[in-house]
Amino acid sequence: MKSNRRQFMAALALGAGAAGLGFDSFYWENNHLEVTAYDWLTAKFPGDASPIRLVQISDLHLKKFGGFEKLVAQKVNELEPGLLVMTGDFIEANDKFEELKGFLQLLPSSCPKFAVLGNWDHWSGVKVKEFDRAFAGLGIALLDNSREELKVGSERICLVGVDDPTNGWDKLDKAAAHLSDRQFNLFLAHSPNIISQIRDLPIDLMLCGHTHGGQVRLPGVKPFWLPRKCEGYIAGFYTKNGKTMYVNRGLGNSVVPVRFRCLPEITVFTLKPEERRG
Ligand SMILES: [Fe+2]
Repeated sequence: MKSNRRQFMAALALGAGAAGLGFDSFYWENNHLEVTAYDWLTAKFPGDASPIRLVQISDLHLKKFGGFEKLVAQKVNELEPGLLVMTGDFIEANDKFEELKGFLQLLPSSCPKFAVLGNWDHWSGVKVKEFDRAFAGLGIALLDNSREELKVGSERICLVGVDDPTNGWDKLDKAAAHLSDRQFNLFLAHSPNIISQIRDLPIDLMLCGHTHGGQVRLPGVKPFWLPRKCEGYIAGFYTKNGKTMYVNRGLGNSVVPVRFRCLPEITVFTLKPEERRG
């Protein structure tokens, strides 16, 4: 009798554990956010330069324009970015393009906004020029193997962006031709495999996405799933050939709608001079 009771309690605990795990993986983590924040010091800014708040979002994989997407927009607005960048995989299917525009409309109107496209944006069937036109109407500059210089606060920043490197649509030679080393050069690309090509370019910081952080992260174990062209880069900072890249964990998911110990992420980089005067 006692043994039956023990078995029943064990089965009950296992069932509750599985239900909790399922709730966490399929619902809770997919509907909550982590804002990660870093200081990024640069000798390119004079000592009396005001810090610039650079915000990155990535891999929305918008399936519907719902509560989570509104939460993302609200958080981004609360962060009051000086510069907002988006590193691709906005949608997976062309019937979500209108809903994507609804989401993008909620982003801050007062800061410069830049985007590059990811593999899923191409696979959605929406043409690059349609993204370009829609983004331009919403105050977002699409960097399609191109670059743009602008003044943010008191400092000049050059944003260099390539089309999706996952499928080889990147044209780095075109985007970074004759790039000057005098200004702060921020590089945007969807997938992190591009880092091996950056070697000799005067890039100060690279921002990528694509990996979703692996989506399921068990302690001490490599992710079970990573998309093509991650090349061992999963999440966070990496340095190769003297160039530093940050891989954002993204907001959405693809293939399996699961996240475990891998919350969706908004990243904030505070760009500051290496030495402050006065
Ligand atoms: Fe991707």
